[in-house]
Amino acid sequence: GTRCMAYETLIVEIEDHIALIKLNRPDALNALNTQLLNELSKALRAAEENEKVRCVVLTGSEKAFAAGADIKEMSEKTFVDAFTDDLFGRETQEMLRCRKPIIAAVSGYALGGGCELAMMCDFIIASDTAKFGQPEINLGVVAGIGGTQRLTRFVGKSKSMDMHLTGRFMTAEEAERSGLVSRVVPAKKLMEEAMGAAAKIAEKSALTAMAVKEAVNRAYEVPLNEGLLFERRLFHALFATEDQKEGMEAFLEKREAQFRDK
Ligand code: CAA
Repeated sequence: GTRCMAYETLIVEIEDHIALIKLNRPDALNALNTQLLNELSKALRAAEENEKVRCVVLTGSEKAFAAGADIKEMSEKTFVDAFTDDLFGRETQEMLRCRKPIIAAVSGYALGGGCELAMMCDFIIASDTAKFGQPEINLGVVAGIGGTQRLTRFVGKSKSMDMHLTGRFMTAEEAERSGLVSRVVPAKKLMEEAMGAAAKIAEKSALTAMAVKEAVNRAYEVPLNEGLLFERRLFHALFATEDQKEGMEAFLEKREAQFRDK
């Protein structure tokens, strides 16, 4: 793959149709500081605009996906600083805007903002060493990048309250059992599994994958009847695409579909 040299806190490689973004602040367990979040926004925008890229994989190191927002950088902030900059609101916009699928490959600590960053991806594949937590209460704050909202939707109120109130960590096994992650694999297999999933997605019609993302995300935004209507209309609309014709013809002719994103 080709390696992009433009970042100091990330390692970005484009391999086949996959943009692999690796958080890279090893001395701070990939704590999310302003520079890292700005570079991540840039890297995601670049992936979104790069026609070659069909799927993004976001990962950290073996020891830490990310140990949270950078506490050193935050500690002296006042309310006025945080409010005026809309701390973490602005910095995370790009992630929500990305229409290409993003897989989080999590090994080690995914705490606070790290857990929240993983939850902003489309799904999470975890190594058996992964530890998830929302320990902000230990710092005298609550989560600030969606933890109280997203974790609750993933794992339900009881477990979410437990995590946020006690600040305890969840193992990969518990995270899979409770619906936070889609798969758990041995640490050594994590990148193979995540890149394999990304390669699978890259084979599909990018247009259809975008539609899947829109439809699933709707489930978190609107009442069920509205979500069902949105899905059905999207389903109807896809009959206007060449990829629908190709996908169904290929099935009937017992061959592999050749999607053209049209
Ligand atoms: N911010 C800044 N630096 C951090 C950090 C963070 N969130 N997490 C770890 N580091 C730094 C440590 O300060 C340490 O740096 P030094 O070597 O310069 O002292 C280095 O990373 C290694 O960390 P430890 O020595 O602590 O490593 P450990 O293996 O003993 O412990 C850990 C690992 C349990 C993850 C521990 O580092 C830890 O508890 N980190 C903080 C976790 C946390 O509270 N996260 C929530 C942050 S707040 C937040 O995220 C708000 C939000 O929702 C937006």
